[in-house]
Amino acid sequence: MSDLAALKQAAAEKAVQYVRGGMVVGLGTGSTAKLMILALGERVRAGLSIRGVPTSLETAKLARNNGIPLLETEDAWTIDLAIDGADQVDAQLNLIKGGGGALLREKIVAVAARQFIVIVDHTKRASVLGHPVPLPVEVVPFGWRSTARRVEELGGKAVLRERGGHVFKTEGGHYLLDLHVDRIEDPAGLEVLLNRIPGVVENGLFVGRTTVLLVGTPQGVQVETAVR
Ligand code: A5P
Repeated sequence: MSDLAALKQAAAEKAVQYVRGGMVVGLGTGSTAKLMILALGERVRAGLSIRGVPTSLETAKLARNNGIPLLETEDAWTIDLAIDGADQVDAQLNLIKGGGGALLREKIVAVAARQFIVIVDHTKRASVLGHPVPLPVEVVPFGWRSTARRVEELGGKAVLRERGGHVFKTEGGHYLLDLHVDRIEDPAGLEVLLNRIPGVVENGLFVGRTTVLLVGTPQGVQVETAVR
């Protein structure tokens, strides 16, 4: 296991300690969330009774393979705790997410959760959100070039995400614009302004959502609790 993977693993294992029997748990997407699901699966096999709400098809498959019962996504769930990774975290514990393309479900689950635990390695910390991490903006395919222009009017360069020479499509059937911005000085304002543009479905800014941040560092897992 690489050094970074070991730090992610430590944060993931710490997060699982917050889970109690009977909870409904939001299950994030990405390499750090994957380690958390594996650790949670071990606890379930040891007798912990929980139900999960997955944020992607990949997470749903992994959870099922690890014996974690899932709630149907159509259910009106109340989520006790959601655990997910992030691409970047600022000093106020605001996030950029969506590097893996699952930001829409991830945000629905994070907002529905009473507590939102974020697990990262220390390379994800930044004083201000932005460069070198682009901000993913999920848009409907119809008129996406026009939507991209409106997005760029707010600042930055919007690049359509591609994979293997094809346009990347999210599980919702949408496109992703990766918005390259130097410094996101007002994440709360930008989150709202982006979502006001017709054609934008959601964006990867998670502002004021984090309850607890667990950071894997070479010195151990740092725990930061959001000040509200
Ligand atoms: C998925 O869409 C993302 O929001 C991930 O949570 C984020 O990219 C973090 O992934 P890693 O844990 O793989 O860095």
